[in-house]
Amino acid sequence: MPFPENFIWGAATASYQIEGAHDQDGKGPSIWDSFCRIPGKTYQGHTGDVACDHYHRYKEDVALMKSIGLRAYRLSISWSRILPEGNGSINEKGISFYDRLIDELLEANIEPWITLYHWDLPLALHYQGGWLSPNSPVWFEKYTRVVVKRLSDRVRHWFTINEPQVFIGLGYAKGEHAPGWKLSFAECLQAGHNALLAHGRSVLAIREEAASDPLIGASPVGICARPKTEKLIDIDAAKTATFAVSQPKDHSPRELQGALWNSAWWMDPLFLGKYPESGLKAFHGFVPAFPESDMEVVNQPLDFFGANIYHGLTVESNPHNGYTILNPPEGSPVNSMGWDITPDILYWGGKFFHERYKLPIVITENGMPAVEIPDENGQIDDTPRAEFIKSYLRGVERGLKEGLPFMGYFYWSFLDNFEWAYGYSQRFGLTHIDYKTLSRMPKKSSSEYARIIRMNSLESPSPTEETSEMPSLLD
Ligand code: NOJ
Repeated sequence: MPFPENFIWGAATASYQIEGAHDQDGKGPSIWDSFCRIPGKTYQGHTGDVACDHYHRYKEDVALMKSIGLRAYRLSISWSRILPEGNGSINEKGISFYDRLIDELLEANIEPWITLYHWDLPLALHYQGGWLSPNSPVWFEKYTRVVVKRLSDRVRHWFTINEPQVFIGLGYAKGEHAPGWKLSFAECLQAGHNALLAHGRSVLAIREEAASDPLIGASPVGICARPKTEKLIDIDAAKTATFAVSQPKDHSPRELQGALWNSAWWMDPLFLGKYPESGLKAFHGFVPAFPESDMEVVNQPLDFFGANIYHGLTVESNPHNGYTILNPPEGSPVNSMGWDITPDILYWGGKFFHERYKLPIVITENGMPAVEIPDENGQIDDTPRAEFIKSYLRGVERGLKEGLPFMGYFYWSFLDNFEWAYGYSQRFGLTHIDYKTLSRMPKKSSSEYARIIRMNSLESPSPTEETSEMPSLLD
């Protein structure tokens, strides 16, 4: 059986993107609550004030997850719902929401996997310097302790920070995400270093506070490349490209964000306890000075390697400087956000990340946006999304057949939701949301995903006699 019986079939969301109830029951404002109110920052001024109203409709949502057969649900906690000032008094009503949600999930036999930080920093902490403040790792540690103390009797799986490449790159360098800052390179790298330290302190806090043995990871963007051919030199070129860090050409916000958009600068400290040599060279003169002991804090043992992977570059070997990034051939498929559709990237990304970091792999996000309107019967026939899921999972299937330890796959997203600066214009969901009525409608991809999960949860089929090859269960 290609997919192991205990494979984690999941789907993911994040607090600000779905919860709504932005100022209810004592929740404090986050940087996204305030950023969305600045004219021109999000598509048509959209906000997450109501979003999918998951805060009030979580029971219906969990029932839908159950009908898909999800084994796990990756959700994030809104920091300012728990600690309205970010650091200080606890909002019991905020905790109570996550208590109820987790109980509902467990009742439905769905394991909650919790992300502690998915970009909605409490506004009060932003006014004290946000991730640029040397206190930010301490704030995050304290918040982690509160959450873990209260939820770890029922939650075993934890992620610390989601996609630092984005909340630092787009939030602090390019200014396209909250809080909309355009900082200097040195400041961005300092804020990034603080976020990595915050991760380390959070992992230590989880292990200290957890009621039972926790399993911990992070969910950076898995920026990776795939080889043009399966010749060894191209495979090596793709591996080099996956871990490359390049110098910004100038210090414009766009270039700085581009330089921060890499894997190794963010992953090597977590898993190898040091910044990559290539990065130290490329960012020379702007890297913050820090004591040796920082890297000991950052480099905590983790239980799995999580990454959000949507697409990859295609590269070929180049004898002069290692690799050349190829433009996709004319007419290659792209999604509605212009991202290339590169199904085998989960295989190549999983392989390269496992070879370097040696941990079991969890695909913490993978999904396809589209601009969709229901047909006259109110249905969404999103066959391209169903095909997308199957084709990407074939990469995981190939990896498993070759012995790569893929542990799980979380589709992004369970619901259509607030796609940050794109507002509600892009839909990633297995479930359609009518933003006027807030009614939910499972799309075709939802039943296809349910079928894949069901097929792979059945008794192991026997290998075909002649070939003794395992049949694919994605067909
Ligand atoms: C990554 C982020 O974690 C998530 O919040 C976002 O919606 C998806 N990718 C799609 O862009």
